Amino acid sequence: MTTRDTPAAYGAVSRLNHWIGALFVILLLGIGLYFSDLPRGLEKTYWRSLHIAIGTIAIPFLLFRVFWRVRATSPLPPPQAPALQRLSNIVHALLLAGIVTMVVTGPLIQWFGGRAFGIFDVVQFASPLAKSELWHKRMEDIHGFVAWAIIWLLGLHLLGVIKHQFIDRDRLLARMTGRGLRG
Ligand code: HEM
Ligand code: HEM
Repeated sequence: MTTRDTPAAYGAVSRLNHWIGALFVILLLGIGLYFSDLPRGLEKTYWRSLHIAIGTIAIPFLLFRVFWRVRATSPLPPPQAPALQRLSNIVHALLLAGIVTMVVTGPLIQWFGGRAFGIFDVVQFASPLAKSELWHKRMEDIHGFVAWAIIWLLGLHLLGVIKHQFIDRDRLLARMTGRGLRG
C-alpha cells in the first residue's frame, strides 16, 4: 500500500483524509442545521456544545487534510471533457476553501461573542479577542453561508461521482477506496 499519491491512484493518507474529512463535514453540517432551527433552551445548548466539541476535534485533522491535498501531487484526472475537468477542479478547490473557512469562522463566532470554545469541560480555549457584536454576527453569517455553499457543492460533487460510476464506468470511486483506475 503506498502512502503517497501516484499518477494512477490516491495514496493511503489522501484516502483516509478524504473519508474521515467527509465524515466530520457531514456530521457537523447535520448537527449544525439541526440545532440552528431549535428554539433557545437546554436542547439547543446541548447540540450547539456537541457541534463545537466535534468541530474542535476536527480542526487539526481538517487543516492537515487541506494542507496534504495542497502539497501532494493529485493523481491524473480521468479522461473527460475539458469543461467538466475544470468544473471538477473548481468544486474540489471550493470544498477545500469551504472547509478552511468553517474551521476558522467557527471558533471566531465564539471568541467574538466573548466565549471560549473547546470540548465540553475537557479543554476550553479562552478568547484572546475583544468581544464584538459586529464581528460575532459577521462570523455567524459567513459560517452559515459557507455551510450552505458546501451543501450545494457536495450535491455537484456527488452528481459527478454518480456520473463516473454509472455513465462513464471508469471506477473513479474505486481509486478513492483503494484501487486504481481501469486502463
Ligand atoms: C467543516 C466544519 C464545520 C461545519 C460543516 C459546520 C457547520 C455548521 C452549521 C451548518 C451551522 C448552523 C448555521 C446556521 O445557523 O444556519 C453551524 C453553526 C455553528 N458552528 Fe459550525 N461547522 C463547522 C465547524 C465548526 C467549528 C470548528 C466550530 C467551533 C469550534 C463551530 C462552531 C459553530 C457555532 C458556535 C455555531 C452556532 C452559530 C449560531 O449560534 O448561530 N463550527 N456550523
Ligand atoms: C460521502 C460522499 C462522498 C463520496 C462518495 C465522495 C467521492 C469522491 C471521489 C470518488 C473522489 C475522487 C475524485 C477524483 O479522483 O478525481 C473525491 C474527491 C474529493 N472529494 Fe469527495 N466524496 C464524498 C464526500 C466529500 C465531502 C463531504 C467532501 C468535503 C467537504 C469531499 C471533498 C473532496 C475533495 C476536496 C476531493 C479531491 C481530492 C481530495 O482532496 O481528497 N468529498 N470524492
